[in-house]
Amino acid sequence: MQLGSRRWKITIVGAGNVGATAAQLCAYKNLGDVVLIDVVDGVPQGKALDMMESAPSEGFDMRVTGTNDYADTKGSDIVVITAGLPRKPGMSREDLRDVNANIVKEVAEKAAAQSPNCFMIVVSNPVDTMTWVAMKYAKLAKNRIVGMAGVLDAMRFRHFIAAELNVSHDDVHAMVLGLHGEDMVPLPDHSSVSGIPITALIAADKIKAMVDRTKDGGAEIVKYLKTGSAYYAPGASIAQMVQSIVRDEKRVLPCPVFLDGEYGIKGIFMGVPCVLGQGGVEKILELRLTGEETALMNKSADGVNKSVAQLKV
Ligand code: LAC
Repeated sequence: MQLGSRRWKITIVGAGNVGATAAQLCAYKNLGDVVLIDVVDGVPQGKALDMMESAPSEGFDMRVTGTNDYADTKGSDIVVITAGLPRKPGMSREDLRDVNANIVKEVAEKAAAQSPNCFMIVVSNPVDTMTWVAMKYAKLAKNRIVGMAGVLDAMRFRHFIAAELNVSHDDVHAMVLGLHGEDMVPLPDHSSVSGIPITALIAADKIKAMVDRTKDGGAEIVKYLKTGSAYYAPGASIAQMVQSIVRDEKRVLPCPVFLDGEYGIKGIFMGVPCVLGQGGVEKILELRLTGEETALMNKSADGVNKSVAQLKV
């Protein structure tokens, strides 16, 4: 960082497991000062202080503070919204729609009032729909808001591929598009190990099993935890997106972005590959999809459109 330049200010709304894990990783990676905000008195303050007390061991110089007051989030560069209920076993992400829409509406409005020029990352589920709600109430331009989903889904797919082949995660690339739910679209034809298509390395039935496991990745963790959903990989996904923006890395990451005709889809957020940098969503990449992949993308879009149409906010 140059002399005289100020630090990035990263607000994380929701001090639950996902928000706190994301806050910890953003601090540990020295991405910026983190403000953790929650409605529950004491929890963001306690978790923030606990993180700061790990600084002498972990070697980070960023400040993490906890608050219940949006005034403390004023002038944030990045706002991450994790507020809302997580799933319990047997629930779909869509079952959270109405309760989380009211929460996301309120926090997006309050956060944007303090930080009208922020870049917003929405994590609350069903994420494609919640990002739409947040854009409406935060009144942000489409290049300033994305959801977090494809990064997580692709990381899960990458892990399954790396474990199957017993190779480094670093060498495995995977692409997962579409909505963050049962109709997500993992793309084996666009997934590779050091440039070698996975279709040349793994039998078709095994790939199919990994694709299904990826689609079910969130539910698999919910089933184990019973009282909530995943947070280590979601937290890591958030930190990766924040890092790409803060450091202007221009990573190509699959994220729910506002589609305005790309992939033949208009007016909703859904997962497609985009470039994230200091300009926010700097570019949307349009892959050439097969007929079958296009049909899956359209099915995903139908699901998001249906969800948005049912919103009561
Ligand atoms: C999951 C939640 C974050 O997939 O949707 O674990």
